[in-house]
Amino acid sequence: MPRRFASCRLAFAILALGLAGVPAHAADGDLTAAALGREIFLDPGLSASGQMSCATCHDPAHAHAQSNALPVQAGGALLDVPGFRSVPSLRYLNRAAFSFDKEGTPTAGFNRDGRAASLLEQAARPFVAPHEMALADAAAITAKVEAAPYADRFRALFGEDAFDDADGVFLRVRFALAAFEQSAPELHPFDAKYDAFLAGRVMLAPAELRGLALFNNPRKGNCNGCHASQRGADGSPPLFTDYTYDNLGVPRNMEIPANAEPTYFDLGLCGPDRVDLADRRDLCGAFKVPTLRNVATRQVFFHNGLFKNLRDAIRFYVRRDTHPDEFYPRGEDGALRKFDDLPAELARNVNASEVPYDRRPGQAPRLDDAEIDDLVAFLVTLTDGYDAATDTADPARNLPPSAP
Ligand code: HEC
Ligand code: HEC
Repeated sequence: MPRRFASCRLAFAILALGLAGVPAHAADGDLTAAALGREIFLDPGLSASGQMSCATCHDPAHAHAQSNALPVQAGGALLDVPGFRSVPSLRYLNRAAFSFDKEGTPTAGFNRDGRAASLLEQAARPFVAPHEMALADAAAITAKVEAAPYADRFRALFGEDAFDDADGVFLRVRFALAAFEQSAPELHPFDAKYDAFLAGRVMLAPAELRGLALFNNPRKGNCNGCHASQRGADGSPPLFTDYTYDNLGVPRNMEIPANAEPTYFDLGLCGPDRVDLADRRDLCGAFKVPTLRNVATRQVFFHNGLFKNLRDAIRFYVRRDTHPDEFYPRGEDGALRKFDDLPAELARNVNASEVPYDRRPGQAPRLDDAEIDDLVAFLVTLTDGYDAATDTADPARNLPPSAP
């Protein structure tokens, strides 16, 4: 992708990004890049099928994640080309490019393998990926945007010559999307029951409080170790991820078409898209820690969407090593193939030393069934759109009306 700025106006707008937010309820004539980005995000016209927008997979009513229980979504001109990973929520995204921190821990970046350095870069993929919106190139995108109902806004924001060159149009489209993803309030509402609890406005129920204690207890759930539950040093609300990477050894999901090929493995941080990490075999199989905000609204869990409910996902954490036969298949020789979604020589990469997955067969799991219930009760308090009057939450509650 060309990284040059197509016009001074755009460069200026990029500088201004982050200084100016977008109003919660974008009114007619809202000329911020983020408001335009919202319209682009919702436009199914920007795809080869004419039926697939960003919002098809990142559904605003489902916390900007997938709305179904499929492990992977299908795109392309006929909506029949399967993807490779489950759809992450776009709420509470990190801000930074992938890097190794002071201790050498891989951190941040966009996508489950951190390969995109910025939202601007990330947004290039879906438009042209054969399994997603599948447009041919920047010229195809330009033709669609120029014919879209928001073409005039596009000109008003980026100048009368905004459609002059296709690469510039594609960059402006991605810029608007990035502005939307970074600054739209519906992507960072911080209005879950847990937020109201942290603000001292609502008390958690007993089961929720027990779940919180288990979540933070380093000898029990230890979830807080990666899914940060406390406010930052600057008072910022917790995001329930530290944006690091880990290898959980999630079993292979045979519902993903690509997995029919026995030599295919989704290796996350050392996959073919991470040529920069090709010599880091120790990182094979690691995926980004997702936020647990809105996790109770998901119908599939982990990068390969194997587990279909939250309870089962947590059971996996605590029983993977005490009862591996519940999760992994046996080979023809009858031997259990633990960590069957990694080539055998990479199985040692799986994290087997950190609580709660540090057990051995014969030991008790770190959490029993009643404790898992409490943990689930707590995780439900992380759903956006909490209404204290009914003690219910709905991530669609505070969405702005669809752009005009
Ligand atoms: C066909 C479904 C589909 C469509 C359409 C789609 N996405 Fe995604 N999106 C995904 C999947 C799957 C991933 C995870 C990909 C990976 O990790 O390799 C993802 C990842 C992302 C991420 C990275 C999130 C993170 O946690 O780092 C962003 C940002 C994103 N998409 C934005 C968009 C935008 C903007 C559009 C429209 C231009 C879009 N997506 C269209 C399925 C889709
Ligand atoms: C050492 C780091 C670590 C710890 C500790 C940890 N997790 Fe995770 N968690 C991850 C990573 C990494 C993923 C993503 C794995 C993948 O996609 O394959 C994840 C994913 C999840 C998911 C799936 C979310 C989604 O959007 O698909 C749930 C649910 C979850 N964790 C809950 C918990 C709970 C509950 C605990 C405590 C019992 C916990 N985690 C402890 C690293 C951790």
